Amino acid sequence: MTEERKISMAVIRRLPRYYRYLGELLDNGVTKISSRELSEKMKVTASQIRQDLNNFGGFGQQGYGYNVEYLHKEIAKILGLDKTHTMIIVGVGNLGQALANYPSFSKRGFNLIGLFDINPRLIGMSMRGIEVMDIDKMEDFVKTNKVDIAILTMPKTRVKETAENLAKWGVKGLWNFSPVDLFLPEHVHVENVHLSHSLMTLAYKINEAEELDNGNDYKPF
Ligand code: NAI
Repeated sequence: MTEERKISMAVIRRLPRYYRYLGELLDNGVTKISSRELSEKMKVTASQIRQDLNNFGGFGQQGYGYNVEYLHKEIAKILGLDKTHTMIIVGVGNLGQALANYPSFSKRGFNLIGLFDINPRLIGMSMRGIEVMDIDKMEDFVKTNKVDIAILTMPKTRVKETAENLAKWGVKGLWNFSPVDLFLPEHVHVENVHLSHSLMTLAYKINEAEELDNGNDYKPF
């Protein structure tokens, strides 16, 4: 991405939600929408929507609103969803299997092409038509096939070494589920997913609300 098109990560992180809402509108036959209508649906201010979408030239026309199909396509392009991505999963235990069996990634062009594990009981098993391979075969596989993304769902002890190898072998992005912070060369992108962080945030919200309730006399019942 060139310097003048550098968009803040906060905006990028909001784009998948716009993309999902616009996709639902398209499915319902809606062809245009104003920022006010979109704002009511998404519970985001209209000005936030305008600001976000202005980052990409706006796509809207004064008095007309947004062309839903065009905006949906443009956001897909910005997110790189107009291309396909190949993926492998490293560590095919509980979480790895859940992800391997989730069909919706491929609908977005994220195609799973390889599964790797060290457990002999898993090696040779097939999940949605893909065979689990011995970890020893991973280097060859990654070097021979173009692998864009590696999903790391293995125990944390070997993650650093595995990630460094994958980076060396040409994988462009790591979707890291393990509780390890990875520091890799700049050309390898890492996106961490921590369900427990989200759960802790939820606990905070519940806790904060309870503290507030305890601190005032208002009783709802
Ligand atoms: P699991 O024990 O069910 O699966 C781990 C798999 O990795 C096993 O099949 C094991 O044979 C394999 N493995 C072990 N060493 C390996 C190696 N060197 N190379 C390749 N595969 C290897 O564990 P589970 O529950 O699936 O969790 C996997 C990872 O995901 C853990 O690091 C866990 O902490 C993390 N996790 C993260 C969550 C999140 O929200 N980010 C949620 C749940 C788990």
